Parts: sequence; structure tokens; C-alpha cells
Amino acid sequence: MCGIVAYSGYNEAYPILINGLRRLEYRGYDSAGVALMQDGKITLYKKRGKVSDLDEFCADKNTESHVGIAHTRWATHGEPSEENAHPHLSEDGSIALIHNGIVENYVSLKQELQRIGYTFKSETDTEVLVHLIKDVQAKENLPLADAVMLALTRVEGTYALAILSTDNPDQLIVAKKGSPLLIGVGKNEYFIGSDGAPIVEYTKKVVYLEDGDVAVVTPKKPLVIRNINDEEHLRKRPYFQKLEMSLDQLEKGGFETYMLKEIFEQPKAITDSMRGRINLKKDVVSLGGIIEYESKMMNAKRFIIAACGTSWHAGLVAEYLFESLIRVPVEVEYASEFRYRNPIIHEDDVLIAISQSGETADTLAAVELAKRHGATVIGICNVVGSTLARETMAGSYTHAGPEIGVASTKAFTAQVTVLALMALSLAHKTGTISRSQYHQLVNDLESIPDKIEMVLKQEQFIQKIAQFVATRPNAIFLGRGVNYPVALEGALKLKEISYIHAEGYPAAEMKHGPIALIDEHMPVIVVATEQQTYDKVVSNIQEVIARKGTVISVVTEGDTTVKNMSKFCIEIPHTEELLTPLVATVPLQILAYHVALIRGCNVDRPRNLAKSVSVE
Ligand code: M6R
Repeated sequence: MCGIVAYSGYNEAYPILINGLRRLEYRGYDSAGVALMQDGKITLYKKRGKVSDLDEFCADKNTESHVGIAHTRWATHGEPSEENAHPHLSEDGSIALIHNGIVENYVSLKQELQRIGYTFKSETDTEVLVHLIKDVQAKENLPLADAVMLALTRVEGTYALAILSTDNPDQLIVAKKGSPLLIGVGKNEYFIGSDGAPIVEYTKKVVYLEDGDVAVVTPKKPLVIRNINDEEHLRKRPYFQKLEMSLDQLEKGGFETYMLKEIFEQPKAITDSMRGRINLKKDVVSLGGIIEYESKMMNAKRFIIAACGTSWHAGLVAEYLFESLIRVPVEVEYASEFRYRNPIIHEDDVLIAISQSGETADTLAAVELAKRHGATVIGICNVVGSTLARETMAGSYTHAGPEIGVASTKAFTAQVTVLALMALSLAHKTGTISRSQYHQLVNDLESIPDKIEMVLKQEQFIQKIAQFVATRPNAIFLGRGVNYPVALEGALKLKEISYIHAEGYPAAEMKHGPIALIDEHMPVIVVATEQQTYDKVVSNIQEVIARKGTVISVVTEGDTTVKNMSKFCIEIPHTEELLTPLVATVPLQILAYHVALIRGCNVDRPRNLAKSVSVE
């Protein structure tokens, strides 16, 4: 959610910090702040609004420093304001702290600290941490790192922390539990980030902190990492890894926005998701990351798919793929609901957790729960080295490249690709589909990138449809079968970036309620491609027309029936029914994108949202 960046070394810290915040801004963007160590004292600059507002504010300030911490916020406790923006300072100004996560017991800690005389300047849960650490340090007379370790044993919830202290002006203390944090190792300098984006420009040598780790980061000295769960607090050997990211992937590459770039990257993203996973003769589809657990998957009595948002929609598509091809029951769960409803989980269940970021708190909690019940837990995620990748028993990366736009696009189609590969591989091995059906689907999967290219060519036409939709306050998206999740995804894209109220429904459900909403003002976007239930969808469209609704359709090229019933009709290439979502979702992404642009919305950073939802 929030973004953390910190630096200590021989270079000027401020440009590294502000540049890092810009790269992390997709994680949260309601306020930003920076704390710099200057001549043994901490200077603090904070601003409500974007990182560019903070940078403008700092333009005439003295920002000379070689050590600093910086933060971009997604508000949880307290509205976006300068007081609530991080960093937060101790009362004596000796400690500055930034935090990503939630301190769940902050009310009781705050009351306790207030009783002994601490005053609070903000409404945040984070400010509790800075006073608590200061209090422990003063009472126990401990070096800061030890005080942090002791203080954190009292904290319930999640955190990634970076702390600056006048005790050791060039030192940073960082800690992690439940929220991601990595340390980039340069030559005599260190970089800290919530993810690799603010680090990759400077170094690819990184250490991913583990839950409970507290690290002392001092330039020219080796990292000192200890874990609060280790009673003896012994030093851990840092595990250095290569950051799998390149700077090019983080740039807009000539596109106006990240979202548009990512929509247009889908042919490549899908090709990358398939790379090396389909052998030349197409006889074997295999996902290296799950080989060890393949027999567990082949013998699964049930698949449970847990995810949130767009990833949950990918899970719904997988329900059709898995049930049709493998003939094993699938339950698709909102991770946030699953974790709290005491679900029945058996040892022969396989839970597949899907997440672009690999940091979604609810999805990670579902993983924990399934592991506790002895199920096999498989992950599908995009961010290499993310918590999901580390917490699951096995899994497959989607390899879509970094997705920066808050609205998920290429991650969705890459997730569906990997899920399709998974289903095909298991179905082939268990013999639940014929050889010819298998080959037909594999061939079609390989042709998806070209088919998406054809859809992308229709951008200008879709822009015209967007002119129409942009004037409407509501929209309904309909689809049946495997196109039902496409309708849900189309509606989610439209509402999250254009703020138009949109609902997705299985087309036949319309008559059980939503039909009451249809009149001449209501655009109804129907996915009506060639499919088993095509005729039924045609009847549903008739019902819309009878009530004067305006039909915008997505059909298979050559279709005239639905085309003649539509005000606007987008044609997509013929695709195997089970794989249709990979192609049919794309025009809906483009539609939402242009509607949002027309309405003057910030498509990459829609209001109230954040890219990685690492709080409950
Ligand atoms: O990183 P994840 O895939 O776990 O994120 C899940 C959702 O938060 C995410 O898909 C969200 O719904 C997007 N804003 C959708 O565009």
C-alpha cells in the first residue's frame, strides 16, 4: 500500500529518495514525506498530495544529505494530511520513522503511551511506533536496534519500517513483518525499498527481509540482520539474490500512461508467460515451478482458488478451465471472506492463490490457513521474490513484467494464460481430455498474442464507443459461462478508473433483478462471442432491447445477428470458447481506459486505490 524508500551512502540522498518515491507512487499517493539527516539532526519535509508536490515544496529547501528515509502514503488511519503523512518524529526529534502496514493494537499502545505523558500529533497508528521505540530505548538504555527489537515484540499487526536516528546519523534500522521490504546492496551504500522499483537503477544485488527480521544498515559495513522470533537474537547470514527487474520495464516507453502501455504489452506478456512451457511438438505443457507437486495436483479431490479483485476474476475463468478439462470441483473464494469463515479444508485439497503483487494481505492469510490445514498450496504471481512466492509450496510466475498502472490488465491475461497451461498440463497427464482437444487448445493458446494484436488495432473505434459511455452515469456488463468473469472484469475496470457505476452479471441473471435498471439511458455491454450459450445470450439481448437499453457488444468476427442488434459492435477473432476471456477482456480494458481519459480521470492512479493491498 504505502511505499518506502531509504538510502545511506556517499551519494546525495534526496534525488535518490524522490526518484524512488516517484517509482513507488503507484503503491499510494495521497501524501508524501522525507526525513534527511543533516549535520547530525533530522530535517523533515511532508506534503499532502503527490510526490511532485513534495518535490516542488522542497525545491528551495536545503536537501543536502547522504542519509534519509521517504514515504508515499495510502491512508488507513487518519485522512490524507501533512500531520498524518510519514515520516513521524519522536518528541525530542531524535528518531524519524516510516511505516507500511497496520498496527492492530495501536489503540491500547497509544493509551498506554499517553498515560505516561507522550503526546500525539497525528491520527495514525504509525506514530505509536516511534514513541514506543523511544520509550523502550530510554527506559532500557539500549542501542536503537535492540530497542526496536524489544518494542516490536509488543506490536500486533503488520509492518515494514525504516528508521533514522541521531544516535548513529549514517545508520538505518529496517524491520519487516507482513509487509514487503528489501535492501539493495551497492558499493559502500545501501538502498531500501518496498519493492525493487526504487532500487533497480542502482543495484541488482538485494536481500529480501523475512518476517521478524530487523536489519542494521550502515554504509561500508556488512548488513547485520537478526530476527525477533529468535530468542537469542543471533546474527543471520544475509541471503543475497538478483533483482529480476529492469529499468526499461518501469518506464512508460512512449505511451501516455502506464495503463495503456500495459494493455498494449499483452501480446508480449502472454508470450512471456508461455515461454519454455510448451515444448516444440506441443506434446508437453509443463510448468517447472509445480513439477514437484504435480502428482498432488493430479490427485486433488478439489481445487480452492483464493484471490482478490481482478485476480479473483482470473480464478473464476480457471473454474471453467479446470472443471471442463480436469473434471475436478473448483471453488473460487474471495480471500478476504475465506479466511474468516472457518472453511472446511482437507489434506487432499489444493489451494491455488493468485495475486499480481504477491503481497495482498487477504490472499496471504488464505495461504496460511490452507497450509495450517495440511492442503497443498500453489501460488500464481507476477512479482518475483514476493511474499506469495516465498510462502507457497510451489508455484508459477506469470512473467508479465512489472505492472505499474493500478488497474490490472496484462497481469490478468497472464494469470489466465498460466491457469490455462496448468489445466492443460494436468488434463493431458490425467487423460481427462482427448489428444486432439488438447492439441487444439494448445494451438489456440499459442495464437492468442496475434489475436490480441488484432483487437488492439481497434483502439480508435473503441474510443468512439467510449465517447458514448462516458456520458452515462451507469453501465451493465453481461456475459455467460466463461464470459461471465469477463463481464465482471469489464465492470471493475470501468468503475475503478472512470468512477462510473458499473455492474457485471451473468446475462441470464439479469431478469432476476437488474433488468429493472434498464431504460434508454443504460448502456449494456454484452460479451456475446461464439459459445455454447450463444442463442441464450441473444435472447438476453432481446430483453435489453425491449426495454430500450443501448447494446454494445463484443462478438466473434463475422457475427451478424448480435451486430444488427447493437448500437456498437466490437468484433474479435474466433477463439476456442474456454480461452475467449484472454481476447474478449482486451476491448473492455480499452473501453474503460478511454472513458476514464474522456472524463479527465487519472487512469494510472485512480482515487482511493493502491496497487498492492497489503493491509486487511
Ligand atoms: O496484487 P493482487 O493481484 O493480489 O491484487 C488484487 C486486487 O487488489 C487487484 O486485482 C485490484 O482489484 C485491481 N485494482 C484491479 O484492477
